[in-house]
Amino acid sequence: MTDIDRRTLPDLAEMARQGRRIAMVTAYDAPSARLADAAGVDIVLVGDSAAMTILGHESTLPVTMDEMLMLTRAVTRTIRRALVVADLPFGAYQPGEDEALRNAIRFVKEAGADAVKLEGAGRTLTRIGAILDAGIPVMGHVGLTPQSARLAGSYKARGRTATDARRIFDEARALERAGCFAVVLEAIPAQVAGHISEALQIPTIGIGAGAACDGQVLVWHDLLGLTSGHVPRFVKQYADLNATILDALHSYVADVKAAAFPTDSHTYSMPDEELARFEAQITDPRGLNPTSPLRKR
Ligand code: KIV
Repeated sequence: MTDIDRRTLPDLAEMARQGRRIAMVTAYDAPSARLADAAGVDIVLVGDSAAMTILGHESTLPVTMDEMLMLTRAVTRTIRRALVVADLPFGAYQPGEDEALRNAIRFVKEAGADAVKLEGAGRTLTRIGAILDAGIPVMGHVGLTPQSARLAGSYKARGRTATDARRIFDEARALERAGCFAVVLEAIPAQVAGHISEALQIPTIGIGAGAACDGQVLVWHDLLGLTSGHVPRFVKQYADLNATILDALHSYVADVKAAAFPTDSHTYSMPDEELARFEAQITDPRGLNPTSPLRKR
């Protein structure tokens, strides 16, 4: 008997229909997955943002399928309640439908993901079709799509002109028609996200897209104050874990240097008579095992 009872696609559709907001967060390992579940998060995304937050790269591009599989396994081993979406990394679906399908299947079969996410519309639509044909749910992602940010030349907000807003609106509708169960709207004006959310039957999940979306997503490290450097405008930091962790580490280093850690309460002991026998053995060479390196020849 298992106590795993993960959110399903109908659960999420029903939440959106009833106007109950969907909470989504990224997670990349077992402790973060356990905490996200305990906090009542609905969807956990094993995002390709792991390239930056976990692996220390400058962009999302370098993370590999094998790395994403390892992170996704850590999350699905732990998650009991949230739906787990795995992000197909750069290079895992762009080459064609076969590659996209093969990698989506790996996420489900080898890592236990419930669904996959792909960025963009256009050519991505045929990859989405192939994945859906295999029975794997797909989450779309439009607006700022970091895997193709070099085309636009920046990571700035998208959809700030009527033409660009219209493009994103059409892409979101195309993703719904293609069969996506939800779509992430990243870094677009709130008004544009509002119109898209109204036009779509499937839930929209915003990140830097205002309050009219059916749900919100934040990156784990942004939400908890675990990043260094620039914090995007759309991030709300709910904790300053950098400071908390640094404080703890400073105290640890100071304790070790001052021999204030460990104390008796952190230390194992043994019965006095066993200790006495042990000490007799190492001080009396005749008591030592003949093969002991302590025994003098
Ligand atoms: O990889 C990621 O974290 C994402 C979110 C920003 C939606 O795609």
